[in-house]
Amino acid sequence: MRVFVLKARAAPTRSDKLLDGVGSTIHPEILAHTLMNAVFVAQSHRSEVVVHLVLESTEDFSRTVSFSADQLTALAGFHEAAWLNLIARALDESQGMGKEEQREVCAGVLVRTLSFERLIKELAVDCQIYMMDPKGASIRDEGLVADHLCFVLTDHIPMPKNSLARLKRLGARPISVGPKMLFASQCVVLIHNELDQR
Ligand SMILES: C[S@@+](CC[C@H](N)C(=O)[O-])C[C@H]1O[C@@H](n2cnc3c(N)ncnc32)[C@H](O)[C@@H]1O
Repeated sequence: MRVFVLKARAAPTRSDKLLDGVGSTIHPEILAHTLMNAVFVAQSHRSEVVVHLVLESTEDFSRTVSFSADQLTALAGFHEAAWLNLIARALDESQGMGKEEQREVCAGVLVRTLSFERLIKELAVDCQIYMMDPKGASIRDEGLVADHLCFVLTDHIPMPKNSLARLKRLGARPISVGPKMLFASQCVVLIHNELDQR
């Protein structure tokens, strides 16, 4: 299983703000691009891929919206708007939820009022966690042999120091896909490609 986590600090948990934010400094398009590249290959989709988006610009709780590539059927196309509308639908479904509640939005999409820290703690039980970092060890020197691999990325706002420290305590390893600072969605393509060749 390949698991991707995008910690999106700028992403609003209100659907209207998310959709209105396209092209602004919020950059919700990062979420759509990351999903697109994690889930699709030409004329098909990948299997055994899960993407967790953690939207953190909130007045109550972070929202973790999880997409299981094998079960997704509700997408109206593979363009940016299709993904953003699906995320917006998940956010609407989550309004009024208490802390750490969950709701199935549609096949393959789950929304939870779950923080990044709680999500990573949950994933660390089964997955080897990798923190994507241009200054980390090269992905080519890593075994990547665990059955479940989890790659943690951010939007345009860097990972805060306390989150980094928590990740390290959970055994997360910093790895790089190359020397240039890339978009999260570009890292996802390179990670998939690296694993595809093994
Ligand atoms: C646009 S970058 C974040 C930029 C942000 N301003 C920062 O300084 O962290 C988005 C994500 O991709 C990861 N990333 C970008 N280039 C990378 C690389 N060459 N290797 C590994 N991860 C990379 C970053 O660590 C981050 O999680």
